[in-house]
Amino acid sequence: MKMRLLAPALILCALPLLALAADTTIAIIPEPVSLQKGKGSFSLPEKVTIAAPATTEAGWVVRTFSERWQKASGQTIAKTNAANATIRLVYANSSDVNLGKEGYRLMVNQKGIEISAASPAGWFYGIQTLFQLMPTAIESLSPSKNVSWKIPFVTIHDKPRFGWRGLMLDVSRHFFTKQEVKQFIDDMVRYKYNVLHFHLTDDQGWRIEIKGWPRLTEVGAWNVKKQGYFGTFPTPKKEEKRDHGGFYTQDDIRELVQYAKERFVDILPEVDVPGHSLAAVVSYPNLSGTPELAATYQVNSGENFMDWSRGNPPTALVNNTLSPIKDTVFQFLTDVVTQLAQLFPFPYLHTGGDECPKNYWEKDPAVQALMKQEGLKNQDEVQSYFEKRLEKIVRSQGKKMIGWDEILHGGLAPGAAVMSWQGMKGGIEAARQQHEVVMTPTTFAYLDYMQGDPATEPEVYATLRLKKTYEFEPLPPGIDPQWIKGGQGNVWTEQIYNYRYLQYMVWPRAFSLAETFWSPAEKKNWDNFVNRLNHHLVRYDIAEKKYATCHNDAIIDSRFSKDGRLQVDLSTEVNGLQLYYSFDNTFPDNFYPAYRGGPLFPPEECSMMRAVTYRGKQQVGKMITITREELMKRAKERNRN
Ligand code: ACM
Repeated sequence: MKMRLLAPALILCALPLLALAADTTIAIIPEPVSLQKGKGSFSLPEKVTIAAPATTEAGWVVRTFSERWQKASGQTIAKTNAANATIRLVYANSSDVNLGKEGYRLMVNQKGIEISAASPAGWFYGIQTLFQLMPTAIESLSPSKNVSWKIPFVTIHDKPRFGWRGLMLDVSRHFFTKQEVKQFIDDMVRYKYNVLHFHLTDDQGWRIEIKGWPRLTEVGAWNVKKQGYFGTFPTPKKEEKRDHGGFYTQDDIRELVQYAKERFVDILPEVDVPGHSLAAVVSYPNLSGTPELAATYQVNSGENFMDWSRGNPPTALVNNTLSPIKDTVFQFLTDVVTQLAQLFPFPYLHTGGDECPKNYWEKDPAVQALMKQEGLKNQDEVQSYFEKRLEKIVRSQGKKMIGWDEILHGGLAPGAAVMSWQGMKGGIEAARQQHEVVMTPTTFAYLDYMQGDPATEPEVYATLRLKKTYEFEPLPPGIDPQWIKGGQGNVWTEQIYNYRYLQYMVWPRAFSLAETFWSPAEKKNWDNFVNRLNHHLVRYDIAEKKYATCHNDAIIDSRFSKDGRLQVDLSTEVNGLQLYYSFDNTFPDNFYPAYRGGPLFPPEECSMMRAVTYRGKQQVGKMITITREELMKRAKERNRN
């Protein structure tokens, strides 16, 4: 096997973040619609009291506060009806009617804290903002002593720009436990996300119990544990144990749905068909158009089984598709959709539709006969035939179908919503056809991509820096906003083996997307965001959460100058950093040559260059080392493009 060469990297250290100002600094993410800072601050008493309407939903909000408060302060709260309670959750009056379903008004003054909202989700988001106004000790995992629990006087009016603020979690490529999914939801809601898109099935694992189809979880949920660069592993031998993976029982799913509901999150289940279905066809070979082949397949464990050389759709080396025409397939999908519809109250159901190879369908005489019978001109229309039948099943269960933008090809099923991932164009086209759209383009929203220089990050085939995610604008010019439901960040987990690394990949880019989805477009400001981000990363340290710091690193670009020399340009994502570099194999610090703009020309004999960033006298970025060979390779690639 040809080995992939990773550019050698030497990462010395990621040094501490900026020294931060006093606890009462206001740094809210996502930025609220309006915030007026008052003079002074309110000190929480030792015995915090909360007054809230006697409803179940208000109870969830009270619990959200009290659990975190108790963890961080060691104190319990008391519920009261008194008008002088420390925290008061009240219904908004008519002057606040434009708060909508999720908006809130938060007032902190000498009388304490009042959150008014038209509905419970608003209280919940008001509480999330309140946490961010509290001293960083609120992030602590155990009670802190001697904290002065001061909250600055403020009046905040706030409501989201978009109703759909999602993160997609792929639990197929690598399985995440029920407890980890709950933790993911907890992490999401602090930044006011409200949709968890749950990618439950793929070639590497079927993760949800479906009654009547037991092999989906007996067989389809398990593969062979492999570690390394996913997608390049050798095919497991027959005797290798298939005990890696897992699934959620229907009771687990009900528990997760309830957990999410109590945090004002909807779960969007995805069953990805007709492609990405290897786990299903291995479990039930009759679902395949080539059952005799399917009977010989195994659930994928990270071996390559797709030829991408001609782009999307790929050519399947192993037929991972459902037959687009067999009655058994539609019976199977009816059972799956019926059970999903009962388990998940969210009105939408995601049926995938992406990257479906057509090379086995092309050769299938039954597909050819169907094409003749139905007058289908090509394989896109065959997939469209499949999607339209599936959409009817979804609709018959009272749900709205949503699928990846490939479902547009060959004709979009009536009423189907589109998740636009191959750029914005699919979303634009669907919105023009008056279909609902969720924008989640690779260009801005793919959280599985590398965040910094490939020399410093675990390899993935593309890079998406924090700054680029901040440039995301989900509403394309000239498109009627009523069709754009919102946006979503996608966390595909081929290369994500554990929850710590999942956090690293999600944060801080999901801070940035949260602001795009919640805050008014005119409120977005990169420099201001970065300032607030630094405060949140301090909180993440206290909360012992993992995150990436690549946004502080040097960006090293190489190319060939007009006269053919190797040229290097340095830059940073974050303003206000100073770059230092070396060509002499040693580690630059802030006494080394400072980069002052313009091209650098590494001397002929220089075998590697290094660059590092400082804010003032403090190193903030990683030490990045890139060999001459790698610089030349990148320059050649740049010339080619
Ligand atoms: C996708 O990334 N294949 C939707």
